[in-house]
Amino acid sequence: MFDWEAAWHAALYGPGGFFARGEKPSAHFRTSPLVGPELAEALLTLLGRVDAALGFPPVVDFVDVGAGGGELAFAVRRLASGSLAARLRVTAVELGPPVELPGVTWTTSVPSCTGLLVGHEWLDAIPCPVVTGPSDDPWITRWWPLADGERAEVGAPRDAAWAAAVAGVRGAALAVDYGHLRSSRRFTLTGYRAGRQVPPVFDGSCDITAHVALDACAAAAGGDRALVSQRDALAALGLTGEVTGSGWEWLESAARAGRIAELRDPAGLGAFGWLLHGRGVAVADLLPELPPWRPIPASFATG
Ligand SMILES: C[S@@+](CC[C@H](N)C(=O)[O-])C[C@H]1O[C@@H](n2cnc3c(N)ncnc32)[C@H](O)[C@@H]1O
Repeated sequence: MFDWEAAWHAALYGPGGFFARGEKPSAHFRTSPLVGPELAEALLTLLGRVDAALGFPPVVDFVDVGAGGGELAFAVRRLASGSLAARLRVTAVELGPPVELPGVTWTTSVPSCTGLLVGHEWLDAIPCPVVTGPSDDPWITRWWPLADGERAEVGAPRDAAWAAAVAGVRGAALAVDYGHLRSSRRFTLTGYRAGRQVPPVFDGSCDITAHVALDACAAAAGGDRALVSQRDALAALGLTGEVTGSGWEWLESAARAGRIAELRDPAGLGAFGWLLHGRGVAVADLLPELPPWRPIPASFATG
């Protein structure tokens, strides 16, 4: 029988695999860190809240798992200020080759940390088995009951990776990804190359991805948690994008508002899910503006 998970893994992370050989997401698809500095600003606001809730520890971590080209990690390092900047340690976790960036340390395995761990479009890059229904796979039974002939990506490897990453955190862990809920599953396995969606061929020529069952990841990692849309989360962290001032200032704020609108677009990046776990810190203290499990669109964002 064809081993989908092994083939998917070899295509991305085996010798000569798409990410293993150093292909960077920026050359193939658009992600929020590539839009501008605003996502990093919002995450610094969140990190500031985590820092305060932890009582301002001597070292505060920002860990970017699945860091790609390190754009997010570097922007967080560059934009940090004040007492937080002096105590901040930024780590990029990436299986592909590291990129030299001032103030960013690279590693290939997820470290324990005190602060904020972020998996930005990490979980969708974790290979899964693919099954055709009906199936007695325990993950499928719980999370994605299948009718005859229907196909599904089995999210168990993502659940396990997320639970392990969250377990090593004191502070907060945040997964940001496109996905679906138990009520709205659909088979989404696909490929991306040079900005285009392509058939998912397992030969290392393209990124291979599938939407994330974030509700299953949430349950696997457990504890205090919330799942909200990026649109709502960014507003809660102060990114609403008003246009103010006049002249040059107006132009700058209009450009910034355009970037924020892209990040909050309900038909695009704004529909991404933010799965936030508090670890020794209450989620309600981190995003007090939002009720937990605020409904997000049933199927959030295309990949
Ligand atoms: C879709 S890209 C996202 C890159 C970046 N976070 C962004 O949003 O632009 C996924 C990245 O996760 C990396 N990755 C996947 N599994 C990983 C793991 N277990 N440890 C470290 N990096 C991993 C891949 O090599 C790839 O660079």
